[in-house]
Amino acid sequence: MNPRLPSKLFYGGDYNPEQWPESVWLDDVRLMRETGVNIISLGIFSWSKLQPAEKRFDFGWLDRVMDLLGDHDISVCLATATASPPPWLSLRYPEVLPVTADGVVLQVGSRQQYSPSSRVYKKFASALVRRLAQRYRRHPALASWHINNEYACHLQECHGDDSTRAFRTWLRLRYKTLAALNQAWGTAFWSQGYGRWEEIFTPRRAPYHCNPTQCLDFKRFTNDAFLSLYRMEAAILRAATPHIPITTNFMGFFKPLDYRSWAREVDYIAWDSYPDPVDEVAARHAGAVGHDLMRSLKPDRPFVLMEQATSAVNWRPFNLPKRPGLMRLGSLQTVARGGDGVMFFQWRASQAGAEKFHSAFLQHIPPEQSRVFAEVKALGAELQQLTPVAGSLVRNRVAIAFDWHAWWAVELESKPGRIDYAAWAQRLHRWFYDRNIGVDFVHPGAALTGYDLILTPALYLLSAGDATNLTAFVARGGTLLATYFSGIVDENEHIVLGGYPALLRAALGLWVEEWAPYPDGQTNGVRFTRDRTKYTCDQWCDLLHLEGAEALATYTGDFFAGRPAITRHSHRKGTAYYLGTRLNAAGLDALLARVIKDANVQPLLSAPAGVEVTVRESVSERFLFLLNHTDGAARIPLGRWRGTNLLTRQPAARTITLAPLDVAVIRLDN
Ligand code: GLA
Repeated sequence: MNPRLPSKLFYGGDYNPEQWPESVWLDDVRLMRETGVNIISLGIFSWSKLQPAEKRFDFGWLDRVMDLLGDHDISVCLATATASPPPWLSLRYPEVLPVTADGVVLQVGSRQQYSPSSRVYKKFASALVRRLAQRYRRHPALASWHINNEYACHLQECHGDDSTRAFRTWLRLRYKTLAALNQAWGTAFWSQGYGRWEEIFTPRRAPYHCNPTQCLDFKRFTNDAFLSLYRMEAAILRAATPHIPITTNFMGFFKPLDYRSWAREVDYIAWDSYPDPVDEVAARHAGAVGHDLMRSLKPDRPFVLMEQATSAVNWRPFNLPKRPGLMRLGSLQTVARGGDGVMFFQWRASQAGAEKFHSAFLQHIPPEQSRVFAEVKALGAELQQLTPVAGSLVRNRVAIAFDWHAWWAVELESKPGRIDYAAWAQRLHRWFYDRNIGVDFVHPGAALTGYDLILTPALYLLSAGDATNLTAFVARGGTLLATYFSGIVDENEHIVLGGYPALLRAALGLWVEEWAPYPDGQTNGVRFTRDRTKYTCDQWCDLLHLEGAEALATYTGDFFAGRPAITRHSHRKGTAYYLGTRLNAAGLDALLARVIKDANVQPLLSAPAGVEVTVRESVSERFLFLLNHTDGAARIPLGRWRGTNLLTRQPAARTITLAPLDVAVIRLDN
């Protein structure tokens, strides 16, 4: 069993004491205590300070910070400092620097300027990690390891010599023979047949479309290259401190990394969330859907929100502050959706550097003059009151099948139309979120027991095994909603022949002959057969043939008017719906209301619009979270629920009235 964090709610953030004179450190730690901070991420960007030259190390300052934090009972999530190599490294070994698809070498002066396949980088990074592990393995403040930082955030692929060599090695492992590679890549097309491994390159800039399987494999390879860096560090740390949990910070819907493959390697999920407060409604959903995706990666352990902003960020063209109350609400939303940690970038706002306009616990003014500080201090106290929630989990009956390989594949060039895979999944999630029906994200090949309803938005790439898994889910009595452009290609990005989506035909009771992808602005309509209601649709229209399914709605326009657009099919003990187009909000509402009825899924509570409701549960306890995201008071009848509000310490009334942006967390009576 991998080590766990202790069961409590973590509160804190990134601490970069190397940016400040030692004279402020004691003040920092005193204020951390005052704020209720109990954990700090330390040393994330400290490599050049820890190793100012190839053969010179300086751990003295870090010893002093570690001791200071430990003496004040503040735990440390100690970073391995490998995210930003020092300038001396690439001066001496320029091959460390990453190369773009155009052949441009990315230089020092920012961060993340290393190739994930660089042998020199690996050598120096692992040597540093070994020293850190040896030095701090028994330090009482050490609570967790924080490997690197936001892998691939800025540097998402590399085409340099080390990368090319590593790509070839990766391909040899995957395909064994060139014949197998040529077959998988379909190189009979356009005279691309490879006769020697040396002829193969990463997909550099080329005259026209890249071979899609080559591009897809390069994305897989790049994921694995970054993951192997993580593994390299984790192995060193694991050997030195088998009892200390290890993680790295994910970034939610981040396309370059298949976080499902990473989730197996981390001891707990940590992620960074920065929804733009310019649109508060979109932001609260962005937070929720990110938490749901990240939580689902390791559903049996609470996750930690490793970074968010106390107020404004610095990296958008316009960086709005979070108005009073929003930071608290977003933080409690994290806990509501399964988080046991609320952390921020960063403790003390920088005075210099590219992030000096990024908010922090401590802004550029004395704390007693700071609105943000007053809010983080109040939040720290509230989180302590929520301690009983720690360790409890979120359980849902609805899931969206979401797969990074399908994401990579469906967004490669030369497709019939343009599909924004994550946006389509998020749009479906939003319908459930707005109705307080909890949703997980699962791999289509996962064990789907426990779920009543599975959705597959544009699950373009689907293996035969995963298609069988989805079909078996329906056969056992589950409800499936598949949408357009699902189940079109196999793992090699080859069309599965015989009428799309060939492997789901039996479950869906239909096949697709053609599709009409629409440019932005072009629309069609659908009319439901039962009540003749009409709705607009756009982006995509599948032209279906029924073979057992019934048409729930037909198109109203284009040359295929009158033909089925939405269908329902009984397959063994279950039901499979098919949505051949992208419906507007009202149309989606009409369809999904019917789908959840079939699946026997209901909202947790009937609450006014803008009130978010979730439940966390442990073996013996249940906690009901109510979050009022609106600017008006919200009255929420609790129905059968009874309990005590952990934030007010009062018994919950039968109808709770929440002030604007307020939250109730009710420990339910058994
Ligand atoms: C990311 C990084 C941090 C910092 C913040 C700013 O999350 O991990 O180092 O740059 O963004 O928002």
